[in-house]
Order: sequence, then structure tokens, then C-alpha cells
Amino acid sequence: MVGERSGGVEWVAAEPELLAGVVGEVLRLLPPVGGTDRFVTRRTTLGGHVVEAGQRVVVDANRDPEVFVEPGVFEPRREPVRHLSFGRGVHFCLGAHLARMEAEIALGALVERFSGTWSRCGGCRSDLTWWS
Ligand code: HEM
Repeated sequence: MVGERSGGVEWVAAEPELLAGVVGEVLRLLPPVGGTDRFVTRRTTLGGHVVEAGQRVVVDANRDPEVFVEPGVFEPRREPVRHLSFGRGVHFCLGAHLARMEAEIALGALVERFSGTWSRCGGCRSDLTWWS
């Protein structure tokens, strides 16, 4: 996604300070964990909907237009990026900082090592399918 879909590699190559923002947007738009689920323990109302005890609720709101301006747009300059890809609350991902750091180091190293050799889709594999 970073290279082929969004031009994220070009973003990083042109402005390395956007590395964290690029990783954040990849996590927001293409989260490795597709949603967080919870079982409701008592009858409650969520966003105007009544949810009964025992029902399962899946939270996946990384493209909520009430939170993100133009939610479908890859925008590494978003501030703040309040995506839910690492969960939220008491079970927030303990490895979030490590995961972000690893991604930033790896992507930064790739862009530096292969600077100038990236193309938007020139080298796309025809056997891959991209979803939006
Ligand atoms: C891109 C990488 C990662 C993603 C997208 C991710 C995502 C998540 C999410 C969504 C949750 C919350 C699950 C829930 O609330 O039900 C979670 C929890 C957790 N993650 Fe990650 N994670 C990542 C990497 C890591 C790494 C590298 C570690 C450890 C080194 C880690 C350790 C944990 C632990 C221990 C929890 C449970 C926290 C708790 O329940 O209190 N994660 N992660």
C-alpha cells in the first residue's frame, strides 16, 4: 500500500519527517487487525442503537467522517491521528510504540537504500489484488 497505492514512498523520500505520519496512515487505512470486538455485558445504547447483553460489537472506525476529514484520503500530515488500529482503553496494544518504531525504521531504511528506484505501479505484480 505504501508504495503502490498511496505514493507513501514518494512522501517519505521527499520529506523524511513524514515517516511517522505515513506509518500512521497505513495503520489507519489498512490495519493488520481488522477491528476490535467486545461482548456487551448489559443492555446499553451505542450511537443511538440498543445493544442487548451478550451481543457482540465490532469497532472499526478508522474512516469515521466525524473524526477524520476526508477519511478515505491518505494524508500523512493528519494531526492527531486517532485511529483504532492498536485498540483503545485498558487493552490498548502494549506493543504499539515498538510496532510503530519498527515500521518507521524499516520503511526509512528501505526508502534510503532504494532511493529513486520506486515506481507507482511500474513493477506491480499482476497476481496481487488491492482492496480499498
Ligand atoms: C502493527 C502491529 C500491531 C498491531 C496492529 C496491534 C494491534 C493490537 C490491538 C488492536 C490490540 C487490542 C486488542 C483488544 O483490545 O481486544 C492489541 C493488544 C495487544 N498487543 Fe498489539 N498490535 C501490534 C503489535 C504488537 C507488538 C509488537 C506487541 C508486543 C511486542 C503487541 C502486544 C500486545 C499486547 C500484549 C496486547 C494486549 C494488551 C491488553 O490486553 O492489555 N502488539 N494489539
